[in-house]
Amino acid sequence: MDDWNARQYLKFEDERTRPVRDLLSQVPLERVRRAVDLGCGPGNSTELLLARFPQAEILGLDSSSDMLRQARERLPGGTFVQADLTTWNPPERTDLLFANAVFQWVPDHPAVLARFLKALPSGGVLAVQMPDNTNEPALALMREVGAHGPYAGHPALEHATRGDLPTPGEYYDLLRPLARHLDVWHIVYNHVMAGPEAIVEWFKGSALRPFLDALDTKAREEFLADYTARIAKAYPARYDGKVLLRFPRLFIVASR
Ligand SMILES: C[S@@+](CC[C@H](N)C(=O)[O-])C[C@H]1O[C@@H](n2cnc3c(N)ncnc32)[C@H](O)[C@@H]1O
Repeated sequence: MDDWNARQYLKFEDERTRPVRDLLSQVPLERVRRAVDLGCGPGNSTELLLARFPQAEILGLDSSSDMLRQARERLPGGTFVQADLTTWNPPERTDLLFANAVFQWVPDHPAVLARFLKALPSGGVLAVQMPDNTNEPALALMREVGAHGPYAGHPALEHATRGDLPTPGEYYDLLRPLARHLDVWHIVYNHVMAGPEAIVEWFKGSALRPFLDALDTKAREEFLADYTARIAKAYPARYDGKVLLRFPRLFIVASR
């Protein structure tokens, strides 16, 4: 996948970091020798891991050089590596694998989760959060715009859509046999956004990227205009002109 844009991603840093806090609050570890922040992005999640486990060796891992550059600027003393989760293996003595908002992008991620959980020592924890929002209007409308008019049949757009996550039951059947304890839950956030354009800006930093990367400049502008008009209808203004972005997320904490 193409490189990420850290600046665009961080436009909504407070909202995007909130699930990091919610996930970290459920990690049942007092002391950690080594923790790896998988898909560390611009270092926002790594920063909270460092604060929670100041004595631990914390490694940030990401496949994007732009994200890693930003993470190194933010945390100059931190250790960061460029790697792809599809081929990477956890080093020995890793007590915590922490993955906020990355596995939804990893092909066949359930198999990777199982592989990582098996690699942990006894007592080790795998903590994961993924957006579970493919059926929300914001994502359905990307598919809708992509399927019509000038974009219909565009080969790159066919690969731009992210598949639905497995159900909690499917994760349970896969991971429970490998775990001493497993917790799977959802949180639905309702982020207060300045208006429909803010929702479009949000997704330019994530799910819209594969759609926009597939188009040339003119087609991209037309796509965004059509998408923004549909978003404005799907997310009506509240009494103060703001809009609420409903955002369901799935959390998994598995202890080895
Ligand atoms: C949505 S950001 C999450 C950033 C941060 N963890 C947070 O909590 O906000 C997802 C990150 O996963 C990285 N990523 C996506 N696929 C990856 C892969 N296969 N291997 C490693 N990193 C990947 C992207 O480069 C991006 O920085």
